[in-house]
Amino acid sequence: MGYAGNNDPQYIIPTAIATKEAASNRTGNQAGGSSKKGIEDLDYFIGDEALANSKTYAVSYPVRHAQVENWDLMEKFHQACIFEYLRCEPEDHCFLLTEAPLNAPENREYTAEIFFESFGVKGLYIAVQAVLALAASWTSGKGEQTLTGTVIDSGDGVTHVIPVADGYVIGSSIKHIPIAGRDITYFVQQLLRERENSIPPEESLEVAKRIKETYSYVCPDIVKEFRKYETEGDKWIKRHEFINALTKKPYHVDVGFERFLGPEIFFNPEIASSDFLTPLPDVVDQVIQSCPIDTRRGLYKHIVLSGGSTMFKDFARRLNRDIKKMVDARLAHSQQVSQANLSSEAQIKARQIEVNVVSHRKQRYAVWFGGSLLADTPDFYSYCHTKAQYEEYGPSIARYNKVFGSIL
Ligand SMILES: Nc1ncnc2c1ncn2[C@@H]1O[C@H](COP(=O)(O)OP(=O)(O)OP(=O)(O)O)[C@@H](O)[C@H]1O
Ligand SMILES: [Mg+2]
Repeated sequence: MGYAGNNDPQYIIPTAIATKEAASNRTGNQAGGSSKKGIEDLDYFIGDEALANSKTYAVSYPVRHAQVENWDLMEKFHQACIFEYLRCEPEDHCFLLTEAPLNAPENREYTAEIFFESFGVKGLYIAVQAVLALAASWTSGKGEQTLTGTVIDSGDGVTHVIPVADGYVIGSSIKHIPIAGRDITYFVQQLLRERENSIPPEESLEVAKRIKETYSYVCPDIVKEFRKYETEGDKWIKRHEFINALTKKPYHVDVGFERFLGPEIFFNPEIASSDFLTPLPDVVDQVIQSCPIDTRRGLYKHIVLSGGSTMFKDFARRLNRDIKKMVDARLAHSQQVSQANLSSEAQIKARQIEVNVVSHRKQRYAVWFGGSLLADTPDFYSYCHTKAQYEEYGPSIARYNKVFGSIL
């Protein structure tokens, strides 16, 4: 969370809330009504403070798999965000919230009820995360400022591939991949366990995550990469010093192959698991191929990265190469077929398809940054639903949010 126009979010906290009551008493599924009675009760914590108080309070996560599961707690969460973190008067501000693709419209209504009725906000806009990620990529300085493109959002638990045409998500073509940051961390942990025995078991997950985030990169060819480590080990193997949290004794870990093998599971998933075997570049290609034919060029031309697990060095470069290979092979094949079947006059030379995977500095928090950018334009106020509209028409106005660019 933070204020529009800023480069970085002001607070990054987990969507956790710690309350006195057991979480199981609060599974009310609707906003309004029952949610109001708890609002005076200020004895709760959110975010990291919630986790820190987990001994004396019950911690719960009101959002699961990108869906709000407990509106009562969600309202309290928002309340603390506004009054304790952002410290603003909600009556004076327009709020931009984000939602995952394919969010049910009722959820927007519940959210509007909370924001207009409980907090009395001036305006509200609910944006689709993938569209904001596209807007964030405008800062890369490459390509035009378009809201057409394919977004690859990879976080901790899941990776989504989301095609967007003119600001509208092509919902039927979205794909999810069960490989993301957590899987890479586990894989690195497993590789280290086989070799490094100085790591205390209770710290091994944290160590693996730290090593992953600090040293991992994507290589062009694993066979050649292995050879580099064998012949020039000094150059590639890194030593990281850790301190044992319990004994305070230092220990070190030599970081080797896991540097490139970790993120390799996006490209060769079989090295870590046998459940999901399609490489990410193939999934991206399948997603674009399943979209309407007139959108495909734009979708290949503007493939945008978002989220923590797209931060590996050379991730974009490898994706670009692998997708381009598939696209070129398909083109060459159709060319061959047409040569075999048509007379030379009837043959049309197919145009090359441009493939661009865009990498940029705001990738880590791309969704937030894209929101900051769009909410800082004067037009933003005309996209927002206003309090007056809410009072006149009710929560149903929030079902639909104007698409950015549509009235520019
Ligand atoms: N520099 C980095 N290099 C590689 N991975 C990173 C880096 N920084 C963060 N990560 C990883 O990114 C993941 C978190 O990303 P992000 O914040 O986008 O996820 P999330 O939105 O919380 O999760 P999800 O989208 O799955 O709900 C973690 O697995 C973290 O280890
Ligand atoms: Mg995410």
